[in-house]
Amino acid sequence: MSSLEEPLSFDKLPSMGSLDRRFSSGSCRPRGEDMGMGARWIEGNRCSTSNSCSEDTEDYMGDAFLWGRKSRETRGNSFSWRSLSLGRNHTTYGNHDKCTGVKRSKIVNGMPNHVKIVEVGPRDGLQNEKNMVPTHIKVELIQRLVSAGLSVVEATSFVSPKWVPQLSDAKDVMKAVCHVDSARLPVLTPNLKGFEAAIEAGAKDIAVFASASESFSKSNINCSIDESLVRYRAVVAAAKNLSIPVRGYVSCVVGCPVEGPIPPAKVAYVAKELYDMGCYEISLGDTIGTGTPGTVMPMLEAVMAVVPVEKLAVHFHDTYGQSLPNILVSLQMGISTLDSSVAGLGGCPYAKGASGNVATEDVVYMLHGIGITTNVDLEKLLSAGEFICKHLGRLSGSKTAIALGRATYDTCNAV
Ligand code: HMG
Ligand code: MG
Repeated sequence: MSSLEEPLSFDKLPSMGSLDRRFSSGSCRPRGEDMGMGARWIEGNRCSTSNSCSEDTEDYMGDAFLWGRKSRETRGNSFSWRSLSLGRNHTTYGNHDKCTGVKRSKIVNGMPNHVKIVEVGPRDGLQNEKNMVPTHIKVELIQRLVSAGLSVVEATSFVSPKWVPQLSDAKDVMKAVCHVDSARLPVLTPNLKGFEAAIEAGAKDIAVFASASESFSKSNINCSIDESLVRYRAVVAAAKNLSIPVRGYVSCVVGCPVEGPIPPAKVAYVAKELYDMGCYEISLGDTIGTGTPGTVMPMLEAVMAVVPVEKLAVHFHDTYGQSLPNILVSLQMGISTLDSSVAGLGGCPYAKGASGNVATEDVVYMLHGIGITTNVDLEKLLSAGEFICKHLGRLSGSKTAIALGRATYDTCNAV
């Protein structure tokens, strides 16, 4: 393996101390006016001179990662920085301090050992495509992603074809893949009509999608937040009768294209409502990708106060290139479910200008580099990315695919 292909070890990353962020000190909490999109959450200058904020990294970790420690084991005292593989879970644990001499960074403590990736490419990735992608391409993409080891692949949406024409073949896609039993294939359902159509087509997992922004709720699903929650209670009740698990999304968890910054308390409210009505997992979506660690951390802190961390997932769109740092801080706060999209495809038709989700290839590369397992075979994943990019006639949005020479559709030999 060339040095180009090796993930950087944590000793190359800035220390958390240099981020000047504290979760635990009340005197360092944000003020309302500091909560803007992309704004620094903590007033760094004040914190750096305050006694209450003078803890070193260790103190920070000690207080900040209690959420994660409560619910899951931390890894052993070592990690491998030679961990990239084009195969599955190439990382190993245990004696790497002895093998490599690399001292495992304190930053890694508190992160999960294993991350579940929810691949949203076939749904979030394709929903914004103007030209119709043939059903058989969508089906093959799903099959390739499942073969790459992804245990959850969001397959399509049972929404109005007038609103999202690209996914008007949801029934045919679902019928073609519903026999797959090695992965869960959830589908979006905005109402009972969508739920019934999804079940008829063979869906065994569904997702409902609310928003923390009133304006986005209206533009995306044509109703207010509270009206959507009433709708979703009916969907969740119907699903419960059939023992169908329901995932809940909250969109615009940091910013809204119309309203601007969204207060964390609003996100926490919607997340708790979805959780209380019976959603087994709540995915927190930075729909327009404006979040930074400075705004994502207080949002997560607010949601974690009302929904257990092990029930949360994060869903970052990469418009400002902030997804990986946002994922890193989410992991540090104990999140172990990440949404991503192969080749970084996607964008929401009702959030103009928002780019695709963080690329699954880049997430897998980073996680394996840290020493977190995913069960994903990066080689097969790259091949799935090539396949869909070749079809769309476009370069991959994955930096990892580009670096590994797997991004150009004209060199693709996957189909
Ligand atoms: P509406 O127009 O208010 O609904 O849309 P309606 O009840 O008045 O019905 C209008 C027509 O749609 C009727 O047909 C219904 O039968 C039909 P018509 O009589 O005119 O021929 N209809 C449906 N057809 C198929 N499937 C259905 C369905 N429901 C009604 N389920 C509705 C309301 C919610 C349906 C519409 O607004 C809609 O489909 N919105 C979906 C928008 C969407 O899919 N957005 C992207 C996904 S969300 C996202 O990407 C964010 C996320 O990734 C997280 C993040 O990034 O933050 C999840
Ligand atoms: Mg999305």
